Amino acid sequence: MNLTELMVDLVKDGLKHDIRSFQMRARRVAEASKDNNPELAKAIIRTLKTTPIRRQPAEWQPASNHLPVDQDSRQSLVREEETVVANKPHWDHLIAKTIKEFVFERQNEQKLVSHGLQPARSLLLEGPPGVGKTMTARWLASELELPLITLDLTTVINSLLGKTGNNIKSVLDYARSKKCVLLLDEFDSIAKRRSDDSDVGELKRLVTVLLQTIDDWPHTSILVAATNHGELLDPAIWRRFDHVLHFSPPNKTDVVRFLTDRKVDQKTSNEIASVYTEKSYSSLERMLHKAKKAALLYEIDHNESIRQAFGLKSQNISERDARDSEILKLHSEGLNKTQISSQLGISRPTVRRVIKKWQEGDNNA
Ligand SMILES: Nc1ncnc2c1ncn2[C@@H]1O[C@H](COP(=O)(O)OP(=O)(O)O)[C@@H](O)[C@H]1O
Ligand SMILES: [Mg+2]
Repeated sequence: MNLTELMVDLVKDGLKHDIRSFQMRARRVAEASKDNNPELAKAIIRTLKTTPIRRQPAEWQPASNHLPVDQDSRQSLVREEETVVANKPHWDHLIAKTIKEFVFERQNEQKLVSHGLQPARSLLLEGPPGVGKTMTARWLASELELPLITLDLTTVINSLLGKTGNNIKSVLDYARSKKCVLLLDEFDSIAKRRSDDSDVGELKRLVTVLLQTIDDWPHTSILVAATNHGELLDPAIWRRFDHVLHFSPPNKTDVVRFLTDRKVDQKTSNEIASVYTEKSYSSLERMLHKAKKAALLYEIDHNESIRQAFGLKSQNISERDARDSEILKLHSEGLNKTQISSQLGISRPTVRRVIKKWQEGDNNA
């Protein structure tokens, strides 16, 4: 087989995510190019040896993985991912404490089980949008090195009811079959639907299935439910979770802490906190993202870009204005450029430029 054919097959392996075949074929490519291009051959072998193989997100895995799909559309009902959350979410004291204990319990699961004790398995996260409920579930999965399976209940609940039941059941069965964190996101969708739907019987059955699931949840896995509308949930549901965590929107101190953590300077963070009225971390994150892009695209200072994004007065300009007027003041007092430069600790070219600009402005006037 010549090199061209080998390369074509290699590309096919890549597209099919067939790692084993890809590795073998890459070795053959290296072998085949040893004479004509020894550098390439060496580089391929080195890369094969040193690059860690990342496990693929489940959407890419072959159908044999039995990821549950909708019976009609064949669309995947859940998302499964190996999460890596670099930033720990911001939590208030009580949540931080509970999560810390929860993680500790999970890490010592074997010890507890061997003494006949059940480790905590389930969490209900309740609070307004954009305060870190989903992020917390992701972080937990990442911390405990478990895959995260997410079932967004708004999407399944939109399908026909009879189907919804089957869909949810197949997801729950799937999640129960492996060690994972199952996130039932937008958990209140069921309750909401219940209040305005005529097919009450079917929904009741669904709720029963969910309650049963929480009760029988295997101690090897973790069940996290997240809701923006805790008040819509039956008290019977609340009671079933090992822990219920109430997430609050960030207050002023939280905003400052969040921003300084993300390398925004203290003064700017304080100013933002005093003008910021949207009550969520996610909008803060969005603004920071926007500012980061603007800083890069328009080549402005990062902090300055953040000030602009939050509608604060530019710090640079006012600092520059202050500097310029110092220079001009000394200039009007008769000091020469060298004296001004050494007195203010500003470079001579800058002093010269500021004075020249001022003189030109004067002439233009
Ligand atoms: N408590 C938090 N700490 C840090 N970042 C947060 C927090 N809450 C939200 N964010 C940011 O906002 C994004 C969306 O938050 P998310 O967890 O989806 O909110 P929720 O599920 O409560 O609606 C997150 O990916 C993260 O960037
Ligand atoms: Mg969410």
